[in-house]
Amino acid sequence: MVQTAKRIFDYKDLPYICLIFMNTNFKRYLVTAALPYANGPVHIGHLAGCYLPADIYVRYLKATGKDVLYICGSDEHGVPITIKAKKEGITPQQVVDKYDGIMKNAFKEFGIDFTYYGRTSSITHHDTAQDFFRTLFDKGVFKEEITKQYYDEEAKQFLADRYITGTCPRCGNPNAYGDQCEKCGTALSPTDLINPKSALSGAAPVLKETKNWFLPMGEIQQSKDFQNYIKRFDDWKSNIKGQCNSWLTEGLQSRAMTRDLDWGVPVPIEGADGKVLYVWFDAPIGYISATKEYLNKQNEADTWTKWWQDDETALIHFIGKDNIVFHAIIFPMMLMTHGKFTLPSNVPANEFLNLEGDKISTSRNWAVWLHEYLIDFPDKQDELRYVLTSIAPETKDSEFTWKDYQTRVNSELVSIFGNFVNRVLVLSDKYYGGLIPTIAGELTDERLIAARNLCMDQVAKSIDMMQKNLESIKLRDAQADFINIARAGNKYLADTEPWKLIKTDEESVKHILFDALQICAKLAVAAQPFLPHTTENLLGMLNTQDKNWSLLQNETILNSGHQLGKASILYKQIEDEDIAKQLLRLEEIKKANSQEPIAKGITEKKADITYEDFEKLDLRVGKVIEAEKVPKADKLLKLVVDLGYEQRTILSGIAEYYKPEELVGKLVTVVANLAPKKIRGIESQGMLLMAGNDFGKLYSVGPDQEIEPGSAVK
Ligand code: MF3
Ligand code: ZN
Repeated sequence: MVQTAKRIFDYKDLPYICLIFMNTNFKRYLVTAALPYANGPVHIGHLAGCYLPADIYVRYLKATGKDVLYICGSDEHGVPITIKAKKEGITPQQVVDKYDGIMKNAFKEFGIDFTYYGRTSSITHHDTAQDFFRTLFDKGVFKEEITKQYYDEEAKQFLADRYITGTCPRCGNPNAYGDQCEKCGTALSPTDLINPKSALSGAAPVLKETKNWFLPMGEIQQSKDFQNYIKRFDDWKSNIKGQCNSWLTEGLQSRAMTRDLDWGVPVPIEGADGKVLYVWFDAPIGYISATKEYLNKQNEADTWTKWWQDDETALIHFIGKDNIVFHAIIFPMMLMTHGKFTLPSNVPANEFLNLEGDKISTSRNWAVWLHEYLIDFPDKQDELRYVLTSIAPETKDSEFTWKDYQTRVNSELVSIFGNFVNRVLVLSDKYYGGLIPTIAGELTDERLIAARNLCMDQVAKSIDMMQKNLESIKLRDAQADFINIARAGNKYLADTEPWKLIKTDEESVKHILFDALQICAKLAVAAQPFLPHTTENLLGMLNTQDKNWSLLQNETILNSGHQLGKASILYKQIEDEDIAKQLLRLEEIKKANSQEPIAKGITEKKADITYEDFEKLDLRVGKVIEAEKVPKADKLLKLVVDLGYEQRTILSGIAEYYKPEELVGKLVTVVANLAPKKIRGIESQGMLLMAGNDFGKLYSVGPDQEIEPGSAVK
């Protein structure tokens, strides 16, 4: 097997000795970006999270002549889609048809250059995902199990994944989903949630038995193949390594790969009617099916295995941090147990991007939407790419603010890069009619020579660092190195002042502008991963097409006598009014949000107790044998409850939710050792357990089978 990553040591990095993923050993690169759920438009957090970094990396690889596919597509299954459909009163198919187009267009506008953008509702995808499942099933990989799953009796449906929310048992986030906590990234099962709540009705769900097929992740974790695979983590970014290692230390749990839902890829085996594949089983297979679809269209259908089943392919998944477990652990386990597939060489996951001090949130409309940005800034795609890369959340969460956007565009793109190119082209036009000047001999003035050497040295160093940073997917640093090339050029002009020198030393000015034009040509080449629209503009101004990465090593790119194109301004200032308008919009959203009721009714989390604390409770099953209203107390019912060994009178504040006759005969849970208390003159000898939100109905909690009164609840 080919080594997947190489440890490099460079004396220049001495203070930061670290292990870096290197891409140099591979024959071809299969780069993926997380398939976005087709349930809404795309915002800056998506772009910064994975589509833009993957695009930069891919454009770089392509410029260096590598064989690359960049694969993405719409994730059209899963609960987020069906929830959106319910909300909008349309079918899931209508939802995905609508957003697939919107997302594809936004990506295109920002120059996200997918080789292929597929859809998981396609036939190829359904076939590929079903084949994959069947292979694992036939190999006996899955464990078939009947388990109790949450069920919403009002909606008459099982509550998988995002249909259920509750408190994360690991980090206490009150808005964790049934399959995952997005705050700490942990993969969850609905039954792990504290205070589970149906996302459909808000009701507390009940447990109901159902059969599903589980991936025994705990067992696979012990396998030699997996233990070998995880050695790769050592060369990955520390945020991924850290998360993965902590899950592995805790030990992985089996996870159902099928769901009782009606939207998704049907489970292709007998006895699975009404069940679909778990969306996180089918979606990553979307990378495979999109590759196949693309190659089919190229009439190269049979070459897909070269991309997916050959160790000389680097498989690189760009994702956001909430996707780590699925790409670094679950999908590799699927690929591994299937037997033929290449495993990921790297999973460069980004952390989250915040907006103006707050988490980006689709539901609160706290986002900069790409389609809205395009209305206000129709020709500023590269500006946004630039800013998002400058603040990319590569190692920790980062923040987008409009003020910072303005500053970075104005003081870096406009003042450094744009200004340099403009000065050089305007002067060349003025002095030489847009021809690259012919130079004879060398510079002779010591001061000019020193300025030139300093500049050339800086340019060469910046190119070198940029290259290294691109190789190791440190794109934020790579882009800073890129700007340093322009910075060095600017300094050269400032140090030599050709606009003054022209009066006394025309020959030296030719040298300086010749050099500066070569730097412009290098900038055009080097900009291409980061600022693809700019590269095209600049190439036009330089009247050349060649942007091969290897040109960066040439001393001369454009020869004397070459006719330049027409100069125009690369970037325009972002004005204060532009920013004020955006801030006002956000201000209004904030206002609108604050008028919404804040209390979602979910009871606050309580402090941990010990098992000993819990054991002090004497919880027992009781049967209600009498129930009546308490006169002059709207909320109270007086119950007589049989505990088997004795009968108790219990007052309960549930008159609004239960009619007395509904309760008679019901099995309930009683706190039997609660000290008696007099209420309205009647002694209450215990308490019934009820489930509910801080508002709305209360539901009595009892055993789901007939059992003798007095049985302990433990
Ligand atoms: N749709 C998922 C999300 O937006 C990502 C799916 S990535 C894939 O979080 F690998 F499963 F495709
Ligand atoms: Zn959590």
